[in-house]
Amino acid sequence: MSVIVITGSSSGFGLEAALAFARNGDTVIATMRDPGKAGKLLARAAAENVELQVKPLDVSRSDSFGSFVAAIIEEHDRLDVLINNAGIYRSGALEDVNEKTFRLVMETNCIGPLLLTRAALPHMRNQHSGLIIMMSSLSGIAGLPGDLPYAASKFALEGATEALRHEVDRWGIRVALVQAGLYKTGIMAHNLPEATSLSNDYPSDSPYRPLIEWQLNNLRDRIPGAFDPAIIAELFVTIANSDQSRLRWPADPIAEKVLTTMLAQDDAERDEFLQNVAASDWWSQGAVAPPE
Ligand SMILES: NC(=O)c1ccc[n+]([C@@H]2O[C@H](COP(=O)([O-])OP(=O)(O)OC[C@H]3O[C@@H](n4cnc5c(N)ncnc54)[C@H](OP(=O)(O)O)[C@@H]3O)[C@@H](O)[C@H]2O)c1
Repeated sequence: MSVIVITGSSSGFGLEAALAFARNGDTVIATMRDPGKAGKLLARAAAENVELQVKPLDVSRSDSFGSFVAAIIEEHDRLDVLINNAGIYRSGALEDVNEKTFRLVMETNCIGPLLLTRAALPHMRNQHSGLIIMMSSLSGIAGLPGDLPYAASKFALEGATEALRHEVDRWGIRVALVQAGLYKTGIMAHNLPEATSLSNDYPSDSPYRPLIEWQLNNLRDRIPGAFDPAIIAELFVTIANSDQSRLRWPADPIAEKVLTTMLAQDDAERDEFLQNVAASDWWSQGAVAPPE
């Protein structure tokens, strides 16, 4: 049985994944930045009679990563699977988004996961095995206007993960990226402007306001029809049990379609595809007239 570390296990994919691996009999270290939020996970684990450990870990605090990984090795003697799942969503146009938000999104969704992975790699090299799973998004393969901070973080994560794969495969370490469509997790409720203290990324006099409003309303409208997060948890288990060295794992038919389309298209075809995906009137409004 494997030793599995999962980040962001207080809700959504991370919570479902912790339970899925625990059901499988693996040793699960479910991490979260505030273990005070472990109640739901622990109650479900108790109801299902499965065991897991909860440990504190904030992925934007890289100063804790070395001691965190050392403690896992000390206790369990190995680390088989690291699932970099924790993440935040922020929409916004480049001109609107404040620097603090932009840096927080990059730190949480990209730099933190990479530095945590860096702390785990020496141990995985020593044991000559290991699996790193990075939770990406369709925003890691398609850059939609108004989605810029999130897309920047997930595109960067995708590029770094592709590079990492070729750095570490010679030690028997596998690296996987999971792309997902829209799922019923806490991500939108946690990160919509009304729920965050960083809501000044949406200035009322912004020239991009119509785009951002359309984009946020579109997300709110789509949440009820979103996929079940248990699908992602099962996919993590499938990847962990697989012997395939495959990099990209689209999680659902929408992710599959966007991935195959975007990777095969030239710039003009990509633009047309993006306009169909984000069918707001932002596109049809066209160019802004220059000043007289
Ligand atoms: N849901 C979707 O439709 C979707 C689609 C594609 C990709 N994703 C990606 O899937 C991952 C999980 O998101 P989710 O949908 O499950 O959303 P979620 O329900 O909001 O869960 C996100 C988790 O990340 C944690 N987190 C946030 N910042 C953190 C930090 N600095 N350190 C540690 N944990 C932190 C949250 O903890 P707190 O409870 O403390 O906030 C929460 O446990 C993210 O990387 C997201 O980008 C989601």
